[in-house]
Amino acid sequence: MRALLQTVEKVIDHDVNLLLLGESGSGKDFLAEAIHACGGRRQNPFIRIDCASIPVELFESELFGFEKGTFTDAHARKLGKLELVKGGTIYFDDIASLAPALQAKLLRAIQEKRFTRLGSNQTVALDGRVISSSSVPAEELVNELRRDLFYRINVVTFTIPPLRERRDDIPQLARSFLARRKSAIDRVAMGMLVEHDWPGNVRELRNVIDRAVLVEESDVLTPSSLPTLTSDFVAAATSHRWTLDELEMRYIRDVLRQTKSNYSRAAQILGINRKTLLEKRRKYGIE
Ligand SMILES: Nc1ncnc2c1ncn2[C@@H]1O[C@H](COP(=O)(O)OP(=O)(O)O)[C@@H](O)[C@H]1O
Ligand SMILES: [Mg+2]
Repeated sequence: MRALLQTVEKVIDHDVNLLLLGESGSGKDFLAEAIHACGGRRQNPFIRIDCASIPVELFESELFGFEKGTFTDAHARKLGKLELVKGGTIYFDDIASLAPALQAKLLRAIQEKRFTRLGSNQTVALDGRVISSSSVPAEELVNELRRDLFYRINVVTFTIPPLRERRDDIPQLARSFLARRKSAIDRVAMGMLVEHDWPGNVRELRNVIDRAVLVEESDVLTPSSLPTLTSDFVAAATSHRWTLDELEMRYIRDVLRQTKSNYSRAAQILGINRKTLLEKRRKYGIE
């Protein structure tokens, strides 16, 4: 993540088109807004276009705008997002969901840096930095998008790693979400956050913390404030029909991983002495 941010810094003041990749919830919108907020265009608007949710038939008028009288309900001229951006940043979220016909129209506008409002023959300059995002990996995206659009939007690519591949970030993210709610977390519960696989990435972490803070009456979260994370483990035991020995083995293994094999700390969490822990570790052949 640090290496990624160092490269981000280098392009912040260069107007190259950026493509942000990463699983859903990994922070693409967050990064796009941060890039805008740190760059020379920050005084101007940041406009997000959610390519997945704008209906195909409205996309062009949303993007390019229209003149009065272009269609029945066009009672007045309306400016499109490409015009409203006025020197700011235009962010195409989830670009892979754009219909092929629209991809061609968007490509032309980005390439020529100008476009026309619907119902007009005057061209308008497109003045904005273009950032796009996708949760589809680059090797698939190249097939889902028109090639020419893919290469046009993708001068520099940043891939945000899933949260499970940057667990070192979890404590800091968790603390920042907790601080907003004036809450804290105990060590064991923090260990559970670090160990969880977070298929929904930062978004899921934030939701879990927000929910826990709402439910928890004290201002310190403990493992029991995180039932969705604890019951994962119990639910897995039930569905796999683990024996008590298997359950014990897995729990010990997880705690050892969590404590980076600090036997004294692990024994303390498990409520047994260090010698018993070492015996059990040998019994179960835990590495
Ligand atoms: N580095 C970060 N620091 C703080 N909050 C973050 C960070 N990355 C993501 N978030 C938060 O996580 C949630 C999901 O991020 P988002 O940018 O919407 O993900 P994506 O667009 O990749 O699906 C948002 O609430 C966002 O504010
Ligand atoms: Mg997003």
